[in-house]
Amino acid sequence: MKKILVTGGLGYIGSHTVVELQHAGFKVIIIDNLSNSSLDVLGGITNITEQAPIFERLDLRNKADVVEFFKVHDDLDGIIHFAASKAVGESVENPLLYYENNLNTLVYLLQECKAHNINNIIFSSSCTVYGEPDSLPITETAPIKKAMSPYGNTKQISEEILNDVCFTSEMKSIALRYFNPIGAHESTEIGELPIGIPQNLVPFITQTAAGVRKQLSVFGNDYETPDGSCIRDYIHVVDLAKAHVIAMQRLLSEKNTSDFEVFNIGTGKGSSVFKVINTFEKVSGEKLNYKVVERRPGDVTTVYADTKKANDVLGWKAGKSLEEALTSAWKWEKKIRDKK
Ligand code: NAD
Ligand code: UD1
Repeated sequence: MKKILVTGGLGYIGSHTVVELQHAGFKVIIIDNLSNSSLDVLGGITNITEQAPIFERLDLRNKADVVEFFKVHDDLDGIIHFAASKAVGESVENPLLYYENNLNTLVYLLQECKAHNINNIIFSSSCTVYGEPDSLPITETAPIKKAMSPYGNTKQISEEILNDVCFTSEMKSIALRYFNPIGAHESTEIGELPIGIPQNLVPFITQTAAGVRKQLSVFGNDYETPDGSCIRDYIHVVDLAKAHVIAMQRLLSEKNTSDFEVFNIGTGKGSSVFKVINTFEKVSGEKLNYKVVERRPGDVTTVYADTKKANDVLGWKAGKSLEEALTSAWKWEKKIRDKK
C-alpha cells in the first residue's frame, strides 16, 4: 500500500482528496493545524471510506515539528500539499502571514523530502497565476503576469520553488492550477466550511438561501460579457479531488514527461454569476435575494480553462455538471444548518 502525506487534509479540497485516495487504495496520513478546519471532518472522511486516516495535528510553520514528523514518517511515497492560507483580501491586508504560511511551509516540506528521499509532490496552485488573460480559454502556456495579490504571488513563487528544486534534485512535482472549486461530497459527510462571512460566490449563495445572509451582492453587471456579470470555470470538488489521485499515480508510475509539470484543472466551460444564480434557483427551488452592486476590485472579467492538456496527458476530465455541483452545495448547506 503506497503511503501519501496530505497536508491540509482536513480542509475543503484536502478532505475530498483524502476520500478519493482511500477509495483508490492509498494509505493516507493527514497533517493539519485546524486553522481553517475542524476535527469533525476526520469523522466525515471515516464515515465515507470506513477507514480512518492517520491524523497529526501539526503546524507546518514550526520547522522543528516538521523535522520530528519526518523522523517518524520517513517512508512516504508522496505528498499532496494543500495546507496554505487562501483568502485573497486577507493576503492584501497581512502579506507576511501569507508569505510565511504559504512559502515557509513549502520550503520546510521540501527540505525534509530531500533529507528522506521523498520525491513525489503534488502542489495546489490556482488559475490566479494567470491574472487577466489575453486569450481564452487559458492554456498552461499562457504568460504568468504580475500577481494581483500576495496570495496569488505565493502561488507563483511556489511554482518557481518547485521548478528549481525539481531541476536540481530527484524531486518530481505536478502543480495543479485549480479554477473555481464548488460543491460537496454527495454523502454530505464533508463539504466547504467557510469561517465567518464567505468571500466566494457559491457559499454566499447557499447561506443566503438558507437565511444566514440577508442578500447576495452581485459584484457588477457592466462587464463585457453577454449578461454583464463575470465568468468563471466552476468545477465540482470531487472531480478536482480525483485529479490529485491521477496526478499522484502519474508520478508514482514515472509517466511524467518532465520533472515539473503543470495542469489546468477546470471544466473548460465558463459560467456567469447570473447563470450560477439561475441554476441554483432551478436546482434548489429557492428564490434567491440578490442585488447588483459595484464591481469588486481585483476581479478579472472572464476566466475559464483550456483542459486539453489535463484531458489528453493526464487522462482526467471533469465529469460533473454545474447543476450537480450546486445541488450538492445546497444539500450540504442544509445539512450543516440542521446540525446547528
Ligand atoms: P482550506 O482552508 O479549506 O484547507 C487548507 C487546510 O490547511 C485547512 O484545513 C487548514 O487548517 C490547513 N492549514 C493551513 N495552514 C496550515 C499550517 N501552517 N499547518 C498545517 N495545516 C495548515 O482550503 P482549500 O479550499 O481546501 O484549499 C486548499 C489549497 O488549494 C490551498 O493551497 C489553496 O490555496 C488552494 N486553492 C484553493 C482554491 C479554492 O477556491 N478553494 C482555488 C485555488 C487554489
Ligand atoms: C477567488 C480569488 C482567487 C482564488 C479563489 C478561490 C479573487 C480576486 N480571486 O476567485 O484568487 O483562487 O477565489 O478561493 O478574490 N461574486 C459575487 N458576489 C459574491 C462573491 C463573488 O458577485 O458575494 C462574483 C465575483 O465577482 C466573481 C465570481 O462571483 O465574478 C466568483 O467569485 P469567487 O467565488 O470569489 O471566486 P474568484 O474571485 O473567481
